[in-house]
Amino acid sequence: MVDFQKLPSPCFVLDETLLDANLAKIDSVRAATGAEIIVALKACAMWRIFPELARHSDGATASSAAEARLVFEEYGRPAHTYAPVYTDRDIGEILRCSDHITFNSVAQFERFGPMALLRGISCGLRINPQYSPVETDLYNPCVPGSRLGIAAGELRELPAGVEGLHFHVLCESRPHHLHLALEAVERHFGRFLDRIAWLNMGGGHLMTHADYDCDELIRILRGFKARHPRLRLILEPGSAFTWRTGFLVSTVEDIVENGGIRTAMLDVSFACHMPDCLEMPYKPAIVGAHEPAAGEMRWRMGGNSCLAGDYAGDWAFDRSLRVGDRIVFEDMIHYTMVKTTMFNGVAHPAIAIAQRDGRVEIVREFGYEDFRDRMS
Ligand SMILES: Cc1ncc(COP(=O)(O)O)c(C=O)c1O
Repeated sequence: MVDFQKLPSPCFVLDETLLDANLAKIDSVRAATGAEIIVALKACAMWRIFPELARHSDGATASSAAEARLVFEEYGRPAHTYAPVYTDRDIGEILRCSDHITFNSVAQFERFGPMALLRGISCGLRINPQYSPVETDLYNPCVPGSRLGIAAGELRELPAGVEGLHFHVLCESRPHHLHLALEAVERHFGRFLDRIAWLNMGGGHLMTHADYDCDELIRILRGFKARHPRLRLILEPGSAFTWRTGFLVSTVEDIVENGGIRTAMLDVSFACHMPDCLEMPYKPAIVGAHEPAAGEMRWRMGGNSCLAGDYAGDWAFDRSLRVGDRIVFEDMIHYTMVKTTMFNGVAHPAIAIAQRDGRVEIVREFGYEDFRDRMS
């Protein structure tokens, strides 16, 4: 277990032994199915761990020119790239750094596909299979009128040069959701499946979650492969790689009380450092805290930005909190570091790695210059 007292505060810390366990599970699915599993960078672009990720994946997927360059330079191989829209300004860099490019519309393929084909890049189209198990509209790419992916009725023929299809409809999902998604793909786009070389099944396969049945996933992928033997199958999960692999360490700096509500004022911000807690919203787990029972003392956690809504609650602890106590939020690696902001100029958490041998490496600290240099 990481010694949180020894870390600077605030600090994101990734635990290598937790990452190892996730990578072993992902490797077992790769080995059992022959499917290519690539890392979606949007979930965690912590490039210090790319050499490790590269040993346990088949590449990485990028959603912008900057991510494609990070994959090319730090992952050490060209990216699979999909972005909802490409521009004249970014396409050059994307072509330089990618060997697979997926287009969100036929018009985008017609505009940029010829340049990609000239360079020998494999081109695909994102399709919308009109099925998604995701209940929150913010994360559901198949809501009516969605701008993501081509609906079946809009794709009468495959344009010449397209050799792949891509769908992304899952989010923290289970294997039977993939099964339903594949049924929808076969129903709406089945006529194309034996004329393409690869099918990218997007992300959202949370195979490192304790309740996820990897054997069922393996059966589903093998069954699909048996029906479409010529297809290369690609999965591009993000969360699954760094799910529950680390923490955000913070400190109680003050305790305020108003109308019977007790708030521990922290040196981190939900708005700046854990935005998903407010956006989704969800309540993160805190090491050593529990759901308050009736009558138990409740603590709200207050962020250090001026945003009135920068708080989350309520938690109970076995002790009364005091200034100087460490508050450690769990599962703060995927979709956290990549989404932080320096709103209010609040101090940005350092980034650390807890190594297998028990040592801690502080990989990066942030200061005034980082805030200043994002502004003009
Ligand atoms: C196109 C695409 N691929 C992959 C992913 C990764 O999904 P996850 O991190 O849920 O596995 C996302 C997430 O939004 C996505 O939009």
